Amino acid sequence: MPCFEFSKFLLSLFVIPLLSLTGEAATYRGHYCSVTTIATANRTLFAANSTYESNLKIVLSSLSSNATRVTTGFYNASAGENPDEVVSGLFLCRGDVNTTVCQDCVATATKEVRQLCPLDKVALLWYDECFLRYSNLSIFATINEVPGIKINSTQNIGETERGQFNDLLSSTLNLLARRAADSQSGKKFATDEVEFTGSQTLYSLLQCTPDLTDSDCFRCFQSAIGTLPMCCGGKQGGGMLLPSCVVRYDMNPFYNITAASPTRPPLAPGGRKTSSLTILAIAIPIAVSMVLFFVGYCFIRRRARKKYNTLPEERAEVEITTVESLQFDLDTLETATNKFSEDNKIGEGGFGPVYKGILCNGQQIAVKRLSGGSGQGAEEFKNEILLVAKLQHRNLVRLLGFCLEGEEKLLVYEYVPKKSLDYFLFDATKRQQLDWPMRYKIIGGIARGILYLHEDSRLRVIHRDLKASNVLLDDNMNPKISDFGMARIFVLDQTQGSTSKIVGTYGYMSPEYAMHGRYSVKSDVFSFGVLVLEIISGKKNSGVYQSEHAEDLLSFAWKQWINRTPVELLDPTVRHSYSRNEVIRCIHMGLLCVQEDPANRPTMATIALMLNSYSVTLPLPQQPAFLHRGRAKPNRPTQELESDQSPSQSIAWSINEASFTEIQPR
Ligand SMILES: *[C@@H]1O[C@H](CO)[C@@H](O)[C@H](O)[C@H]1NC(C)=O
Ligand SMILES: *[C@@H]1O[C@H](CO)[C@@H](O)[C@H](O)[C@H]1NC(C)=O
Ligand SMILES: *[C@@H]1O[C@H](CO)[C@@H](O)[C@H](O)[C@H]1NC(C)=O
Ligand SMILES: *[C@@H]1O[C@H](CO)[C@@H](O)[C@H](O)[C@H]1NC(C)=O
Ligand SMILES: *[C@@H]1O[C@H](CO)[C@@H](O)[C@H](O)[C@H]1NC(C)=O
Ligand SMILES: *[C@@H]1O[C@H](CO)[C@@H](O)[C@H](O)[C@H]1NC(C)=O
Ligand SMILES: *[C@@H]1O[C@H](CO)[C@@H](O)[C@H](O)[C@H]1NC(C)=O
Ligand SMILES: *[C@@H]1O[C@H](CO)[C@@H](O)[C@H](O)[C@H]1NC(C)=O
Repeated sequence: MPCFEFSKFLLSLFVIPLLSLTGEAATYRGHYCSVTTIATANRTLFAANSTYESNLKIVLSSLSSNATRVTTGFYNASAGENPDEVVSGLFLCRGDVNTTVCQDCVATATKEVRQLCPLDKVALLWYDECFLRYSNLSIFATINEVPGIKINSTQNIGETERGQFNDLLSSTLNLLARRAADSQSGKKFATDEVEFTGSQTLYSLLQCTPDLTDSDCFRCFQSAIGTLPMCCGGKQGGGMLLPSCVVRYDMNPFYNITAASPTRPPLAPGGRKTSSLTILAIAIPIAVSMVLFFVGYCFIRRRARKKYNTLPEERAEVEITTVESLQFDLDTLETATNKFSEDNKIGEGGFGPVYKGILCNGQQIAVKRLSGGSGQGAEEFKNEILLVAKLQHRNLVRLLGFCLEGEEKLLVYEYVPKKSLDYFLFDATKRQQLDWPMRYKIIGGIARGILYLHEDSRLRVIHRDLKASNVLLDDNMNPKISDFGMARIFVLDQTQGSTSKIVGTYGYMSPEYAMHGRYSVKSDVFSFGVLVLEIISGKKNSGVYQSEHAEDLLSFAWKQWINRTPVELLDPTVRHSYSRNEVIRCIHMGLLCVQEDPANRPTMATIALMLNSYSVTLPLPQQPAFLHRGRAKPNRPTQELESDQSPSQSIAWSINEASFTEIQPR
């Protein structure tokens, strides 16, 4: 089932009202009678005193009496000879509870399920401490992602902390999903306690039934995590209880920390101490990656039947499902790049040099040679590659594969023929090649690429280092964003503490990110705003430019804006032919993106709307971030700018209409 439909289905499922069935040993969470798939929403009943019922009794008593014997907290049983009368049942106790609690919970469950679903062939019953299910179908070693029970805390996360919280949550859950799924301890169970703010700790717990394979377990976690934004977005706690797995988190401890991870050192008061630098270096890159994973996952499931046209020929028919299909030999790449010769070098990125190469089938590639230590193992590296390779969009540079041999870590990308945007934009002569329609098209393409990263999934991918040099141009001057997912692929050695490589580029960084390490999709929006103003002006926002007394680009743009002379910002080389309407709209949008308060910045979806529709009324921007104090007071125009009500009316700049109403020939 595609994950989008799956999530809709989860939302639409009827959840049987919470009964007050809280026994001494177990806290009831929810149950379903009969519902196994969408198709069988009707109850499937057995006759009273039938063989099925007696088999069911055998199964339940077997489950109950074996609950003390198992160390994994999991047991399955079945009874019946005749295929129509076979009953299969299982229970799973939460990983941290001891056998006493487990037994009590299972005993409670086996008793109460007969009251809740007296004649149903199929039942699922969740408590905090254990989970019980039975069915007339074989349920062992099979993944079931429906139906589910949501857990939803009543307490909210503050608006301002929400982005940061979501990032931390996704990174934590992703790590735990891997850890729990790959666990060799007999239980597929993992918990973690991570400091959120100084005094708050995020507690998370993931578990699946240990009869699943690692990959089915991981898939179940993905499904559960994928529904969290809808079920519990903005809440301090939440979770999803599915037949095959459980995902839960809360700001209050809800499991026994010592029992859950006996080997871990006890938690210091106020949560584990993690410096904000470490958070930047570790948590945040992983947060991005988690989100990347989901985009990749959903995307690949939706597009599974499509061909990947620009992959090397021998791969064109193959879906990207295995890491092997992405692996290149070192020999192949050395031959393609002429042994990484200086002549083939086409760039020097933050992560290492980039070489142009030609494969023996004639395909052009770009090979990025990662330099320095990477803090992760080969398997992790490959997994990340697989996920990032699945992110595919017209405005993203496609990752074709990798090579991992000895000390060498190489990434293979599609080759984008023209250079990066900064090569044109910040060069007095080359800039002339970029006329206004081209620049407008580039702005739109970049916006679509980021929108894909941010929102073409229920979770989010944050680029973190969006800048002119990370936008490549193809033969038709279509922009392609590069270096997304790098935080995921290239984990810096944490002991070096050299976070500077990964945290972005001065001039594009939002103030909350630069100063407090907080970032969210709105940090990318800020970088996008800077980029838009650079594309319009042909000037670099490097803080100070030209002379010591010159203002930075944002101040300059703002000054022109409040002076009602926004077109002064426009690069003189394109002034012979442009649409005032588009230019002013882009400046307006750029200024909205670089506002100090992230909450005031538009989302990429809104930006896409602003670019596509002339009828969207834009709010007035506030003074951008990073202006020196004391300069330009926020004396913005007092009337609403209602741009572009209709194409014929053009733009209604409320104060100085005369200068803005005509549309220049293009
Ligand atoms: C469920 O029951 C209703 C009414 O008894 C019936 O119309 C419907 O077809 C049934 N659906 C399924 C999937 O069996
Ligand atoms: C089932 O058996 C019980 C006792 O064995 C009896 O009281 C009850 O009437 C029976 N029900 C049916 C539907 O036969
Ligand atoms: C589970 O319990 C049943 C009795 O209810 C018993 O026959 C069976 O041997 C037990 N299984 C294990 C593995 O102990
Ligand atoms: C439990 O499930 C496994 C498959 O995971 C199966 O081989 C085994 O027979 C089941 N145990 C019982 C008692 O049915
Ligand atoms: C399980 O029960 C349903 C409803 O009675 C029936 O349609 C289905 O065939 C049964 N499956 C098996 C394997 O017996
Ligand atoms: C099991 O855990 C419960 C509560 O967590 C505790 O009260 C009980 O003493 C424990 N029993 C054993 C045998 O450790
Ligand atoms: C979560 O809780 C809020 C109020 O606390 C409620 O409005 C919302 O419907 C709940 N959502 C679900 C999916 O239960
Ligand atoms: C938590 O688990 C530990 C070790 O199993 C146990 O000693 C302790 O009593 C438990 N705490 C609670 C509150 O159940």
